[in-house]
Amino acid sequence: MEPLRTRPRAPSPPMRFGMASSLTIEGVGKRFAHRIALDAISLTVEPGELFFLLGPSGCGKTTLLRCVAGLCRPDAGRIRLDGTDITNQPTHRRRTAMVFQSYALWPHMTVFENVALALRARHRPAGEIRRRAMEMLERVRLADRADARPAELSGGQQQRVALARALAADPRCLLLDEPLSNLDAQLRTELRGEIRRLCREAGLTTLYVTHDQKEAMAIADRLAVLRDGRIEQCGTPEEVYARPANRFVARFLGAANFLEGHVAERAESSVRVETPVGPVVSTTRLDGVPPGTHVTLCIRPEVCRILTAAAPTSAENLMPALVVRSTWLGEMVRHDVLVGETEAPVPFEVAELRPTVRAREGSPVRVHLVVAPADVFVLPE
Ligand SMILES: Nc1ncnc2c1ncn2[C@@H]1O[C@H](COP(=O)(O)OP(=O)(O)OP(=O)(O)O)[C@@H](O)[C@H]1O
Ligand SMILES: [Mg+2]
Repeated sequence: MEPLRTRPRAPSPPMRFGMASSLTIEGVGKRFAHRIALDAISLTVEPGELFFLLGPSGCGKTTLLRCVAGLCRPDAGRIRLDGTDITNQPTHRRRTAMVFQSYALWPHMTVFENVALALRARHRPAGEIRRRAMEMLERVRLADRADARPAELSGGQQQRVALARALAADPRCLLLDEPLSNLDAQLRTELRGEIRRLCREAGLTTLYVTHDQKEAMAIADRLAVLRDGRIEQCGTPEEVYARPANRFVARFLGAANFLEGHVAERAESSVRVETPVGPVVSTTRLDGVPPGTHVTLCIRPEVCRILTAAAPTSAENLMPALVVRSTWLGEMVRHDVLVGETEAPVPFEVAELRPTVRAREGSPVRVHLVVAPADVFVLPE
């Protein structure tokens, strides 16, 4: 790393706005003592894309952001911004801006000064600093609080100041590390929409870290699910939710039910799988998978339909079940269900917007579950 510059320098060239950069991470690895934090991570964030890194605590999300920001040197791999190798570039040259969970504002400075700081560090003329800092504060709707100190603001407002400061530096790549996790649920929802709007308006290439899958699903263009320093799957939220690569990914993005079975028969556009609760038909394409192959079926709670009346015997994917407990969650009811009339029924979670049954603990309700073949996904693993 280069030593920090202490000599005064000529003003940097005029700022350009709205020019999105591409970020490429190629085989990045990082080890701390014997612990592998990042294991050959490769991904590309397209210009202007809002890309999420999602995964449980300790999977390497912050470490990867720090590598991109230049706060941590990878042991292996390359990082490129617009094709330029920045792997060994000092932090201040990279033009990345990071926003932390803890806001990291200067308490003794006003809101305006906190935002202006990013511009002063770049030796901009005073008039431009004032204009640009106020413009950024307007973008996050805090121009009227320019003279306040951070302590006089709410958590959500402080995080918006941190965002304004990051944007003011005109970064080529914005890095957000769990920016909303200190806020309450309603503010999180509001502010995530705001972040999405700001990134869109500025056309900013953004790498956003969270372990909150709802946040990622709501605003991500694409996301990567990480586990133990590796990427498990990468895609749009819809793709990854509907076609998870494995059980881990399926579970991480929401509730999921699994059924083990063997491929019994493969037709042109569907496959029949023999499971402990009976045959289940799926429209997942299984090219080159011979009958007899062991597979896992993934069924989301919200695609299961509950039938209470005597069920038509001809329906596809009709499973006898027992609702053992219904829990009202406000926006929906979640049922704990045991599927199959066997010694070892399979536990399922079923979600209903308008509940057809309500089971109290100790008095289960006999039903049938129906799942459309298009809603049964065969995991590729
Ligand atoms: N400076 C460090 N020294 C030693 N080990 C570290 C260091 N930084 C991170 N690690 C380890 O590397 C792994 C990844 O850490 P990292 O902070 O990237 O996880 P994370 O995905 O951001 O988790 P969280 O969701 O809890 O913030 C962890 O096992 C962590 O203990
Ligand atoms: Mg972290």
